[in-house]
Amino acid sequence: MAELVPVEAFDMVIFGATGDLARRKILPALFHRWCDGQIPENSRIIAAAREDMSTAEYLVRASEFVNGDKKDKAWAAFSKRVTYTAIDAHGESGGWQVIRDALKGDEAKIRLFYLALPPSVYGPVCAAIGKHALNTPASRIVLEKPIGHDFHSARHINEAVGAVFDEASIFRIDHYLGKETVQNLLVLRFANMLLEPVWNAGGIDHVQITVAETLGAGERADYYDRAGALRDMVQNHLLQLLCLVAMEPPLSLEGDAVRTEKLKVLRALRLIRAEDAGKCLVRGQYGAGMIDGSPVPGYTDELGQPSKTETFTAIRASIDNWRWAGVPFYLRTGKRMAKRRSEIIVQFKPVPHDIIRADAGVLQPNRLVIRLQPDEGVKLMMMTKDPGPGGMRLRYVPLNLSYADAFEADYPDAYERLLMAVVRGNLALFMRRDEVEAAWRWTDAVIRAWTEGASPVHSYAAGTDGPSQGALLLSRDEREWFDGDHA
Ligand code: BG6
Repeated sequence: MAELVPVEAFDMVIFGATGDLARRKILPALFHRWCDGQIPENSRIIAAAREDMSTAEYLVRASEFVNGDKKDKAWAAFSKRVTYTAIDAHGESGGWQVIRDALKGDEAKIRLFYLALPPSVYGPVCAAIGKHALNTPASRIVLEKPIGHDFHSARHINEAVGAVFDEASIFRIDHYLGKETVQNLLVLRFANMLLEPVWNAGGIDHVQITVAETLGAGERADYYDRAGALRDMVQNHLLQLLCLVAMEPPLSLEGDAVRTEKLKVLRALRLIRAEDAGKCLVRGQYGAGMIDGSPVPGYTDELGQPSKTETFTAIRASIDNWRWAGVPFYLRTGKRMAKRRSEIIVQFKPVPHDIIRADAGVLQPNRLVIRLQPDEGVKLMMMTKDPGPGGMRLRYVPLNLSYADAFEADYPDAYERLLMAVVRGNLALFMRRDEVEAAWRWTDAVIRAWTEGASPVHSYAAGTDGPSQGALLLSRDEREWFDGDHA
């Protein structure tokens, strides 16, 4: 296990501290880093939310989501670092003065404001932080996706936040960038000599990116129904994955070096027009079905009202630049799919000339399977001679790197890593303003194409791979979706 390097001491104010995100992700992440000794003792967490309650009451609620062997003793020490303050985050309330008093005298210390709130209030809360003079030069603001619901709302939010915080102090979270295997994409591509010379239209036939979940919209149905799979997953997580696969080598891993290369990819993404919707876009919504052997209701039954929101989408994306001309990137994501898996599959081109006898088996092009979760790993499918007598017979077998077999490490969850990266000021793992806006421009075009092209929302049974039209998207190009488990 790699050595853990403690971060500098910090003060963190979590707005929306009684919400789901704070209780399920942020506090447990901080607690785990505390248990591993990465958070110095003189750090403080100020949990702020609308409800009136005492710190003790808050801690009882927060502890529901914290588990593990170390819990009892460590939780007692950790909770001493936490206080709760009732506040109307974007109005006038005494809570602001309480926070101000608590932070007073610590102006040089790293200060984090985490907005675990709906994006519509990011601007007003930042204005309030500014008005109460809480933003010091050492302050950082952390924002959750979605930043807006289209290009214009994102720009509006970015401007309001930017009026109080410099871009270099704004940390926009896309939690996929905190995943171990997503970070490995940079290492895989740029710390190995093998791949880069063929990592282009000359060597690669196409790329598939799949993020499939078995969960439904669940308790977040209200938010989800306004977002849908495109805004909830593609605009951020899938496009970020696409960027990491497609970008040019950055000058270094420094924040702006990486983000500038990602931005170039986003700007090179071809805007999909209404007349291309039929061959480039598919959307679907799950109906009732079976997940892991149990019946589950359809989306509209869960929601309790009719809806046209997509819970599945498949997109044939194109990157109009020198490296990727003519190489489709097929993106697919959905809820209530057959199994949970996030993976990137890079299909290489066939060898230029087949010198092996035709009866020895069909030559298959190499395929790289990058499994992001679960069963993290990297698999390179290769043609190999079947050992033994009987002449030249071919087999397509994997060179297999399974994380579970190769590494002992019990690596931190994405939020743990991202929170520590905020304290360190490592911007490379966060989205820059121009990236978010460029991603929205492309996403807005998809929505326009859906609307103007009157694209249907196809139904699919929960527990399947989405509507059959998703498969057509590839079969029309004489390709098929691969499943990394059987690649
Ligand atoms: C979130 C989406 O950003 O990512 C959710 O809002 C989705 O709808 C989640 O379930 C998936 O994240 P993970 O880490 O479970 O793949």
